[in-house]
Amino acid sequence: MAIIRVGVLGLGQGRSHLRAFQMLEGSNVVAVCDQNTILAEHVARDLNVDVCHASYESMLDDRNIDLIVVATPDHLHGQHAIQALEAGKHVLSEIPMATTLDECRRIIELTDRSGLKYHMGNQVRYAFCLRDVQRLIQAGDLGDVFYGEGEYLHEMEDIVGHREADHWRIHPHTPQTTLLGGGPHAIDTLRWLMGVHFVEVQAYHATQQSRWQTTHTTIAIFKTSNGGIAKVTVSYGMKRPYCLYYSVYGSDGSFERTRDQGGSVEDTTNYLYHSKVSGARRMLPVTVPNWNNPRIQRQHALGHGTMEIEQAQHFLRAIAEDYEPAIGPREAARSIAAGICALTSADSGGGQVTIPTFDE
Ligand SMILES: NC(=O)c1ccc[n+]([C@@H]2O[C@H](COP(=O)([O-])OP(=O)(O)OC[C@H]3O[C@@H](n4cnc5c(N)ncnc54)[C@H](O)[C@@H]3O)[C@@H](O)[C@H]2O)c1
Repeated sequence: MAIIRVGVLGLGQGRSHLRAFQMLEGSNVVAVCDQNTILAEHVARDLNVDVCHASYESMLDDRNIDLIVVATPDHLHGQHAIQALEAGKHVLSEIPMATTLDECRRIIELTDRSGLKYHMGNQVRYAFCLRDVQRLIQAGDLGDVFYGEGEYLHEMEDIVGHREADHWRIHPHTPQTTLLGGGPHAIDTLRWLMGVHFVEVQAYHATQQSRWQTTHTTIAIFKTSNGGIAKVTVSYGMKRPYCLYYSVYGSDGSFERTRDQGGSVEDTTNYLYHSKVSGARRMLPVTVPNWNNPRIQRQHALGHGTMEIEQAQHFLRAIAEDYEPAIGPREAARSIAAGICALTSADSGGGQVTIPTFDE
């Protein structure tokens, strides 16, 4: 397999992807770039990366880079991914894919035309605790799926509490939105678990503000492509430990994660399951390996441990063997368009909005 030469743009969460690609045989991390040049030089030195580009333009011109990881603030992902594809680079982008439908369409167009690969990094699809259950649901174990719930509940103190007031996540011009910030972990993962597209939405914001004066809580109700319904809640203000919750209900059974999930570095977690196959008269508590391998997460200080390593490995394989990545441009656009349309609905007080499905 040819070695893919990786450049990483944005060195907060980007460092996690950097280390994931460094751990894999099929890639070399050859360059980094951050507008904070002191940070970039520090990361390059610490993590043994040869080239530190002073600007994104210089990184785009670098012929020694095959793949760019886009890990800049949310509102820049679309523009940065488009520039990378135009420069002939594959793209692994952090969530969200983009913040406008036009940018999503442009990314699809560029990948269609060039054959370059694009993957949106919702690493939650690689969580040990969800993979097996997703396979069971896709194999029909729950029958005809008619309802699902996804929640991203994260009081952002740990992420934003230590930031300056002009940090992009809380800056009045670029605040991280609920449904495109943590929201993709809820929306994209729920769509994947249910095996559906979201086709129409009505959504509402709570009028309360987080303590950083950003949106506090948003709820979105979706119609799904198979005639079912789904509900997504994202809260940045809920006083409770971090939680990614999912449930899926079908004609033959039900899956519910617990909302009491323990820490991300614990070895196991639980969910409740009931189906014709399990045959139980009650919801069966199932103990499964946690999100990822906690030892690897601790050992290598990777943000999301094996989830990011497997995601990087999957993307390298998709490039080498020329197949559509799991969260390729259309699949990413379906989830991000659902978030964009839900925000349009919530921002305008809850009207119905049709979501493009990008099937063409
Ligand atoms: N998938 C996940 O679970 C997960 C977790 C954390 C963050 N994220 C996402 O990763 C992205 C980055 O978040 P973060 O927490 O690392 O933020 P951050 O503010 O810590 O880091 C962003 C970095 O990008 C740099 N940057 C900004 N504009 C730039 C530009 N034009 N050119 C070059 N560098 C630029 C900043 O200097 C900063 O170092 C966000 O989209 C966030 O939502 C995802």
